[in-house]
Amino acid sequence: MKGIFITFEGIDGCGKSTQTALCREWLESLGRDVLMVREPGGTKIGERIRELLLDKKNSSMAPMTELFLFEAARAQIVEETIKPALAEGKVIICDRFFDSSYAYQGCARGLGPEMVSRLNMDATGGLAPDITFFLDISVADAIRRRNSRGEEKDRIESAGDDFQEKVRAGFVRAASEDKRIVTIDAAAAPEIIFGQIKEKLETLL
Ligand code: TYD
Repeated sequence: MKGIFITFEGIDGCGKSTQTALCREWLESLGRDVLMVREPGGTKIGERIRELLLDKKNSSMAPMTELFLFEAARAQIVEETIKPALAEGKVIICDRFFDSSYAYQGCARGLGPEMVSRLNMDATGGLAPDITFFLDISVADAIRRRNSRGEEKDRIESAGDDFQEKVRAGFVRAASEDKRIVTIDAAAAPEIIFGQIKEKLETLL
């Protein structure tokens, strides 16, 4: 069977965890071998980089440092995990991938989307997802969801509402530039959202 690489994107609190879990369950019910991974992280080296990135004590981290750390974790997960799994015919579901760098570092942090796109390609050796679901939700709705979960914010989530607005605009821009990215209205009920995702995936399988 052909390997498939699926990624999920969106601002913090957009509902990715629910949808990646539903997606996994459904694909497994079809008999597919599914591997779920997350970015940053997913490898031993990547998880250490993740700690550096999300630690609130690192408040002085420069945007460029942040970008390179995300790209470093990405290069590792692509080589160590994603490429081998694709070669084995697995379906890989990745919670965030390089569109997050485009939106967060390229657009919201202001490093520039073009430069980030180039680095994204370098870090992955040109490997792009087969399909990407951008779960689009308003910043106000995302905050409500996050508050109801009562989780503590990490360093990047603490950057504020204006920052989240810029991230959202970054994803909208990425989606307008690349047909690979499917925008889903994430304010809808989880079953409705998943129905739309399933429909798209059926054409890929
Ligand atoms: P995570 O706990 O995975 O957040 P979420 O559960 O919302 O996906 O933390 C990842 C954080 O890192 C999140 O705020 C988004 C940010 N991020 C970037 O800024 N750039 C990137 O390239 C990636 C992959 C994530």
